[in-house]
Amino acid sequence: MKYNFDIKIDRTKDNDMHWNKEYLSKKYNIDINKPIYSFWMGDADFPMPGNVIDALKNRAGVGIFGYSFLSDNWYKSIVEWNKEFFNVDVKTEDIIYAQDTLIALSNTINAFTSKGDSIIVTTPVFGPFEDIVKNTDRSLIVNKLIYKNKKFEIDYKAFEEQIIKNKVKLFIFCNPHNPGGSVWKESDLQKILDICKKHNVFIFSDEVHRDFVYNRKDFKSFY
Ligand SMILES: Cc1ncc(COP(=O)(O)O)c(C=O)c1O
Repeated sequence: MKYNFDIKIDRTKDNDMHWNKEYLSKKYNIDINKPIYSFWMGDADFPMPGNVIDALKNRAGVGIFGYSFLSDNWYKSIVEWNKEFFNVDVKTEDIIYAQDTLIALSNTINAFTSKGDSIIVTTPVFGPFEDIVKNTDRSLIVNKLIYKNKKFEIDYKAFEEQIIKNKVKLFIFCNPHNPGGSVWKESDLQKILDICKKHNVFIFSDEVHRDFVYNRKDFKSFY
C-alpha cells in the first residue's frame, strides 16, 4: 500500500487540540495572530490509510449509530494482528475492551490499587501517566531514567529501593518508551519482572507505540 505523507490537511477548523486556535489560545495563552506550528507527534498530520477511511465511511453510511457488540471478527482481528506482526499468541479470553489506553490505565489503577497507594513511573514519560496517578489520589513515585550514550536506561538499583521504601503497588511501564523511543530489551523485561514479582508490584505495560518499531518481531511484549 502506498502512503502520501506530503498532503497538507487544514485542521484549524476542526475541534482538535492540535491546531484549533480557540483551543490553543485558551490552553497556552498565545497570540493566535502569529503563525503557529504544532509539533505534536502522537496526533499525526498525515491522512489515515484509505481502507481505514473507507471502513469508517461505510459504517457512517448506515446512518444509525446504535449500540454495538464485540463480534468474533473484532477479537479475531486483534489475535491475528498480534500473531502476524509480533509473533505473539494472544488468547481471546485475555482481551478486555477499553475505549483507549488511558481509560485502560485508570481502570487498572482503580482495580488493582487503593487510594493513597504508591505508583511508580520512569521519567521523562508521557505526561498523562503522572496526571492519572494524581487524579486517582494515588501517590506518584518518580524513578529518573539515566541518559547514557544517547539512550535511556533504567536505574534498577534506585527502582528497587524506591519500590521497597514506598511500598509501591503498580509500575506503569512504557514500551517503546515515550519520549526517547527506547525499545526495551528482553533483559530489561526480565529485570523488571524479577523486581516486581519479588515485591508484589503489578505491571501495566503500555505498548501502544510498538507498531513503530522497524522490525516489529524484535519487539518483546510483556504479554
Ligand atoms: C505512551 C502513550 N500511551 C498512550 C497514549 C494515548 O493513547 P490513547 O489515545 O489510546 O489513550 C499516547 C499518546 O500519545 C502515548 O504516547
